[in-house]
Amino acid sequence: MPLVNAKEMMIKAMEGHYAVGAFNINNLEWTKAILEVAEELHSPVMLGVSEGAKKYMTGFNTVTQMVKAMVEDMGITVPVALHLDHGTYEGAQQALRAGFTSVMFDGSHYPLEENLAKTRDIVAKAHFLGATVEAEVGTIGGEEDGVIGRGEVADPEECFTLKETGIDMLAAGIGNIHGKYPANWQGLDFDALKKIKERVGDMPLVLHGGTGIPEDQIKKAISLGVCKINVNTECQLYFQEAIRKYIEAGKDREGKGFDPRKLLAPGVEGIKEIVRIKMQMFGSVNKA
Ligand code: 13P
Repeated sequence: MPLVNAKEMMIKAMEGHYAVGAFNINNLEWTKAILEVAEELHSPVMLGVSEGAKKYMTGFNTVTQMVKAMVEDMGITVPVALHLDHGTYEGAQQALRAGFTSVMFDGSHYPLEENLAKTRDIVAKAHFLGATVEAEVGTIGGEEDGVIGRGEVADPEECFTLKETGIDMLAAGIGNIHGKYPANWQGLDFDALKKIKERVGDMPLVLHGGTGIPEDQIKKAISLGVCKINVNTECQLYFQEAIRKYIEAGKDREGKGFDPRKLLAPGVEGIKEIVRIKMQMFGSVNKA
């Protein structure tokens, strides 16, 4: 199946009261792990690529060609969207030119008027190419590629204004943060989420910082209009722990255990394990 944009995925998720997982990829192993689980569980999926990961993988063209070829060679039949995560104004345009089917333009650090103008421009370019656009209001706390946000709660009025630019998905800060949640985290602000939802109506909402949010809060967020949940750090942690165990058990020194395909295999299994857990939790299993 060719890559798709996120439009239909979001409509179905909203109607079916579940969320599609957007899992960040870093390399071939990451992509393979996520695609295998999506196919196994018959779940739609979004592959998120940050600008840092793009740089690591050498460029948007490499990422697009790799993902397209893997979807074909692996015989993937579930819907897969290739999505730029926290894109800059320039980055979003480059990703679209390279064939990404969805982009997040994160203009949350610009003054509102500038965010709106730039978002409108990205929407026009993306829609011309058949791609979808996610935009953000209210900086999401934690670290986004080296930038530490404050974890603001988005203003419903600003959410409405951003919706009017023609975007397809809206990421609104509701006390969520990227990375591990601190022990004193207050939890998601559901009152804020309700007010945002009331103001933006049928606009699919995106929850960033999916790592470590307890299941009951995930379910409640979905019931209040969240249709896409981003997960990054948790895949990294499962990958790291699995490889640590392999090396600590001395397996890399046994036979051909040093072969990168053997050395990375437990990490791939680790990613698969957490992606399965998340897809079950988000309710996207058998929704492809
Ligand atoms: P986590 O790393 O906290 O899962 O957040 C991922 C994310 O929101 C990517 O945009």
